[in-house]
Amino acid sequence: MKLISTLSVAAVILLLVSLAPALRSAQDTPNHATVTNPVKPTADSQARAKQIYGIDCAMCHGSDGKGKTDLANEMQLQLKDWTDPATLKDKTDGQLFDFIRNGTGEGKMPPETAGRAPDDVVWNLVIYIRSFANHP
Ligand code: HEC
Repeated sequence: MKLISTLSVAAVILLLVSLAPALRSAQDTPNHATVTNPVKPTADSQARAKQIYGIDCAMCHGSDGKGKTDLANEMQLQLKDWTDPATLKDKTDGQLFDFIRNGTGEGKMPPETAGRAPDDVVWNLVIYIRSFANHP
């Protein structure tokens, strides 16, 4: 009996160890395209999003969301104008979430990692960047 339970514990550990890389990479490339934004924005959560945006995003996208910044110019980035309601209209919140979380890969836009912003902050960032279209 004892041997069997020791063996099954060992088997479970082995299984978890072998699955870990797969689980991790599934986490790295999540797909939220059809996920509804779970966040109900509050004044506080949007203030936090604005603060993070100022630190991690504004240098490229601009504090006004127009994407006309010195850095974008120097890096020759083609950034869209988020004050135009047409710009993000066809993207779901989940697509924007994934874009922010993953970045572009080619070193143009860095990923906003979980260490910098937990999921709820990224969902709030999505709401925040959409709000540029409300007051161009
Ligand atoms: C170093 C410059 C840089 C920073 C910093 C940056 N971005 Fe971007 N971002 C880009 C570029 C370049 C694109 C366009 C990429 C493409 O079209 O392939 C982009 C595109 C996007 C898009 C896709 C929609 C669109 O307008 O094309 C979203 C959403 C976005 N950024 C959000 C953010 C948020 C939120 C932050 C901060 C957490 C951020 N970005 C920080 C450079 C940046």
